[in-house]
Amino acid sequence: MRRAKISIIGAGNVGATTAHWCAAAELGDLVLVDVPQTEDMPRGKALDLMQSGPIVGFDARITGTTSYDDTAGSDVVVVTAGMTRKPGMSRDELLAVNARIVGSVAEQIKRTSPEAVVIVVSNPLDAMVQRTYQVTGFPPRRILGQAGVLDTARFRAFIAMELGVSVEDVSAMLLGGHGDTMVPLTSCAAVCGIPVAQLIPPERLAQIVRRTRDGGAEIVGLLKTGSAYYAPSAAVAQMVESVVRDKKRLLPCAAYCDKEYNVGGYYVGVPVILGSGGVERIVELPLTESERAAFQKSVEAVKNLVQKMEGLIG
Ligand code: NAI
Ligand code: 2OP
Repeated sequence: MRRAKISIIGAGNVGATTAHWCAAAELGDLVLVDVPQTEDMPRGKALDLMQSGPIVGFDARITGTTSYDDTAGSDVVVVTAGMTRKPGMSRDELLAVNARIVGSVAEQIKRTSPEAVVIVVSNPLDAMVQRTYQVTGFPPRRILGQAGVLDTARFRAFIAMELGVSVEDVSAMLLGGHGDTMVPLTSCAAVCGIPVAQLIPPERLAQIVRRTRDGGAEIVGLLKTGSAYYAPSAAVAQMVESVVRDKKRLLPCAAYCDKEYNVGGYYVGVPVILGSGGVERIVELPLTESERAAFQKSVEAVKNLVQKMEGLIG
């Protein structure tokens, strides 16, 4: 059987670590791409990773390159190219810079892998996934963004730490954009089916929700030189696995919602069934009044971000 071909654009922290998780799980052959200015860096990382195969026990061809021709015919393309915010840089500057980078990456994906499922990771996530959709013109179900798997993993980890239970027994769901307005759904969080609201007092649960929303900033504050990458890349690898193995996992992803949740044609975080065709179905949950209002606020924030991006790049 032919192995899946998975290309990862941006061989930095998230990209290279995504390759690591994907290789260890034998999800397919991997191509790591970065810009020519990085010279041999992607090749060095690919070779190093491949040499871990005999120890870890995986078979995968791992290539590092600065040429998109090596990615031709990929089944899955992961986009981690872009800048993280530097001191003195405004959010608008990051938005404009990454919109240009992701736009140029999307042009190359369209040329070289027209049938791929594309998973966008670059920030600001909700705008970058919309940009990828606009530039490639691929069917919306084949473009999606990673945010919710990471954000629910943070939520699940904090709940498990609070209760002293295994993370494996904690499940959670979350809606909205990847930012301050994300909506962790406490009504869906459970430990082996027991609602967390029955296990954690409301004020403590509210603190956990806040910590989840601020999860990215907490790590930036500790690392100081960049942002999180172990959990983000593990999240991407879980999404890649669901596609290449057609697992049909139900995962929170940034997916194109038109009539769904009345969003009107934007990418926002919702529960989806993820299989070999990409987003196979968006699952519409019954929401409480306050969850609906919080989701609406988050959708408005995403729309404003996209409109700002369109104004900045013309
Ligand atoms: P990094 O700086 O370690 O790596 C970024 C890589 O992209 C660099 O190697 C750079 O040379 C490369 N790059 C820049 N322009 C490129 C282009 N045109 N083509 C190909 N490669 C290009 O950054 P890191 O930590 O890997 O983060 C990458 C992006 O992912 C950032 O925008 C970050 O904010 C975002 N991120 C998003 C998360 C999410 O949950 N959606 C989680 C973590 C990071
Ligand atoms: C995070 O949430 C930086 O988006 C990234 O860690």
